[in-house]
Parts: sequence; structure tokens; C-alpha cells
Amino acid sequence: MSGNGSTAQNSPAPSPQGRGGVVYRDAIESDAAALAAFARVSWLATFGHLPYPPPDLSAYLTKNFGAEIQREEIGGGDTRYRLALRDGEIVGYCMMGSLSMPVDDANGLEVHRLYVDESVKGAGVARALMDDAAAWARGRGASALYLSVWENNERAQRFYRRYGFNDYSEWTFMVGETADRDFIWKLALS
Ligand SMILES: CC(C)(COP(=O)(O)OP(=O)(O)OC[C@H]1O[C@@H](n2cnc3c(N)ncnc32)[C@H](O)[C@@H]1OP(=O)(O)O)[C@@H](O)C(=O)NCCC(=O)NCCS
Repeated sequence: MSGNGSTAQNSPAPSPQGRGGVVYRDAIESDAAALAAFARVSWLATFGHLPYPPPDLSAYLTKNFGAEIQREEIGGGDTRYRLALRDGEIVGYCMMGSLSMPVDDANGLEVHRLYVDESVKGAGVARALMDDAAAWARGRGASALYLSVWENNERAQRFYRRYGFNDYSEWTFMVGETADRDFIWKLALS
């Protein structure tokens, strides 16, 4: 999945060369097309094998991924995207912002999505992105970070557990008209 698009010219300076040649920086609006392509492909690589009715899958992809959608999110102020890049191409991202799930915590923030390319799984990129999200949330005075994980996404669950997330509740995550059971997990920050 690493060849999904190139990053924009005039991008902000990334952090110094990291492990494995991966660097990190916040997304800017001109990243929108490459980010949308990466996000779509990485979502499909993770969940595309599931038996979603084609109209549900199509509705979900159309609603969530597209250059205009990501551009508005990046520019809108409520969503923050952190990118991992190698040789100028996106190999991972974390999307974070205010709570979109049924969580009763006025002081909580959410990791909406965390995806890394197959080529950097197990390489510490996900941890670096989560470290950044936790630092961002702390910097905004949040007492906890929440996320939603599909009940059968074992690899993600193992990663989140190791990171320190614990059970909070569960909810229904909609893919079109298909209802998935997701766990809501919480990382206490204080
Ligand atoms: C979830 C994700 C960000 C974690 O990053 P990562 O680099 O793979 O994480 P790590 O390799 O450090 O940790 C993954 C854990 O799963 C284990 N694992 C590896 N392959 C696995 C598999 N096929 N099934 C279950 N567990 C697996 C690893 O051994 C590790 O467990 P451990 O900590 O007990 O040793 C990454 O796998 C990813 O992008 N997955 C696809 C997108 C996704 O599912 N995002 C989350 C949506 S909620």
C-alpha cells in the first residue's frame, strides 16, 4: 500500500529522520488527495474481505474517503491528522479529534483512526503515532483518550492493550446499513 500517492510540495518540515527512514508531521490541506487514497486503500486492506453488501461498502467508502472530505477535515480545525512518511509517501496515519462515540466524558478525546502500511507493521510506526496522539491529547488537557476497535480485530486489540488501553464499553459501528460490534477502549492520561 505504500504507493498510493505522493505528498504535496511545500509541506511543513517533517521531524528528523526516524527509525527505518520514517518521518512524522501533521497533515496539511495539500496532503488531502494522497491521504484519502492511503486511508481508503488501508481500510480496504483491513476490512475489505468482510462480507459487507456492496452497497454498504460503497456507502461507507464514499462517506469517509475522498480528497475533498480529507481536505475539509484537515482544514476544519476539529480533526487532526498525523502522518508517517517514508521517501515522501504516506505509510501511516492517525486521525484524532473530539469524541464521536457514546462516551460520557467531557474531558475525553478520541483516536478516530490509526492505520499503518503493511511494510511498517511491527516496526514501531504505530507506537510513534499513538505516542503523538497521547501527547496531543495531554496538551489539550484531556484526561483520557478513547478509541473504537472491531470485536475481531485481534492485531489492533493486542497493540492497544500493550499500549495501555482498557475496556470502557461497546457500541455499534455502522458500515452502510451493516452493524458491526465494536469495543470502546480508554487510555487514562492523568
Ligand atoms: C493496528 C496497527 C496500527 C498496529 O500496529 P502494528 O505495527 O501492527 O503493531 P505491533 O506489531 O506493534 O503490535 C501488534 C500486535 O499484534 C500481534 N500480531 C501480529 N500479527 C497478528 C495477527 N495476524 N493476528 C493477531 N495478532 C497479531 C503482534 O505480535 C503484536 O502483539 P504483541 O504486542 O502481543 O506482541 C496496525 O496493525 C494496522 O495498521 N492494522 C490495520 C489497521 C487497523 O486495524 N487499525 C485499527 C483500527 S481500530
